[in-house]
Amino acid sequence: MFPEACIFLFCFLICVPSFIRAATSLNLTLPNQHPHPEAVVQEVQRRVNVSISRRQLLSISMKDQSQCLTGNPIDDCWRCDSNWANNRQRLADCAIGFGQGALGGKGGQIYVVNDSSDHDTVNPTPGTLRHAVIQDEPLWIVFQSNMVIKLKHELIMNSYKTIDGRGANVQITGNGCLTLQYVSNVIIHNVHIYNCMPSGNTNIRSSPTHVGYRGKSDGDGISIFGSRNIWIDHCALSHCTDGLIDAIMGSTAITISNSFFSHHDEVMLLGHDDKYLPDSGMQVTIAFNHFGEGLVQRMPRCRRGYIHVVNNDITEWKMYAIGGSGNPTINSQGNRYTAPLDPSAKEVTKRCDTDEGQWSNWNWRTDGDIMVNGAFFVPSGGGFSTQYAKASSVEPKSSVLIDRLTMNAGVLGGARDNSFIMYGGGTTTGGSSSGGGGNSGDGDGDFFGMMFGSGGASTHSSPPTTIFSSLLIILILYLTTNHGGLLLFSSLLL
Ligand SMILES: *[C@@H]1O[C@H](CO)[C@@H](O)[C@H](O)[C@H]1NC(C)=O
Ligand SMILES: *[C@@H]1O[C@H](CO)[C@@H](O)[C@H](O)[C@H]1NC(C)=O
Ligand SMILES: *[C@@H]1O[C@H](CO)[C@@H](O)[C@H](O)[C@H]1NC(C)=O
Repeated sequence: MFPEACIFLFCFLICVPSFIRAATSLNLTLPNQHPHPEAVVQEVQRRVNVSISRRQLLSISMKDQSQCLTGNPIDDCWRCDSNWANNRQRLADCAIGFGQGALGGKGGQIYVVNDSSDHDTVNPTPGTLRHAVIQDEPLWIVFQSNMVIKLKHELIMNSYKTIDGRGANVQITGNGCLTLQYVSNVIIHNVHIYNCMPSGNTNIRSSPTHVGYRGKSDGDGISIFGSRNIWIDHCALSHCTDGLIDAIMGSTAITISNSFFSHHDEVMLLGHDDKYLPDSGMQVTIAFNHFGEGLVQRMPRCRRGYIHVVNNDITEWKMYAIGGSGNPTINSQGNRYTAPLDPSAKEVTKRCDTDEGQWSNWNWRTDGDIMVNGAFFVPSGGGFSTQYAKASSVEPKSSVLIDRLTMNAGVLGGARDNSFIMYGGGTTTGGSSSGGGGNSGDGDGDFFGMMFGSGGASTHSSPPTTIFSSLLIILILYLTTNHGGLLLFSSLLL
């Protein structure tokens, strides 16, 4: 009788905090935070170093091999494999930075989207992108042919999905667009996303077993809400109503890389409210992107969190590039900032709605950044010791590096940005600005042959481990200790 009461008490003491933790972890992503963000930053630098030196070595010894090696560690990880189209899931191992754990649909089946329509948001037709992204099991989603997918409403994605647009010209537009809400492990690769408009007040299916009523959406290109392990690579985003990419409400473990941003006002928002404490755990890597023509502000605009902005080419802004409030840590390394002509808009940074007295100890550092056309970065906090003088001293070498690292930013094959939509239509591939040689027609020949090739679906269950592990601990304690020990333990807890 007495030992049973103790076990009950013990279980109660252990389980209640676990339940609370399990419940809040949907909102608070802090448990998923990397404990040493600086280590992730160094690992990114190491990967760039390794890629660059391998390229330099090979360019001396083997001319052919070096053609595909760019020094960009993500691209060099998969693009040199001429058989990549039969080995698509290799991509999941190529991410860097805070989002590198994003599995996407790795280990799952290949799902071929063969229908560009989006007629029914509650019962999507098999073969449509919407039908693919709502499934519960991991899926690697590819496209049978070039297509323009005009969404009827937000596309609400489920966890463990890769949208892999390689080998086809895939354009996602319309109402929505992509919504990642309380999900994890999503990879979005090589698609155009543009002209995303608000819509909603309708029912939308988010999984095979759940249909929810959605209010009006903002009209973001990609909206990340309470989600983690997200990797966006080689996308082109432009012309949306709200943000091109917004990550809010405790989202973390995100990498945004090799993408091309243009023609937009508020480009990227990381955190939506200074007072929203869980965003202190937000960790985002922004690497090898091209922030191009027609951009105004927010590249990105940060609240709280730790944001690593590394090796990007920021060629245009009207107001500022990097902004923030609510004491975010901003680590800007090896970027090139090219200021606009407007003499009043040369400053890269902006502290939004905050007095200097408040922001002077925020940790904003610039390290090895290149400032062009009078651009200047105002560091603060611990970053103040790093002067921008350092940046100009490394300019010649780094600037070659930036060109190399970002030369294929955007969508591979055809037009890498969304400039074609300005010439009307939206179905052609333009090609007006396809920079960076050697990226046309990637694997098109093999594209149709490789369907349904890869292994069966394996189930990745995102573990609701806290409750189970505490039950397990109780069981082990019960079996391994005599009842006196357990009594001791529970009285210690009291
Ligand atoms: C998130 O937190 C809010 C308030 O803290 C709560 O009302 C809401 O139910 C939580 N959502 C989830 C999915 O846990
Ligand atoms: C990368 O290379 C640079 C220059 O060669 C060096 O200063 C830096 O310490 C290296 N970084 C890492 C993380 O290896
Ligand atoms: C498209 O794909 C779906 C789902 O895989 C399949 O059921 C359908 O038969 C396919 N349609 C065509 C025209 O190939």
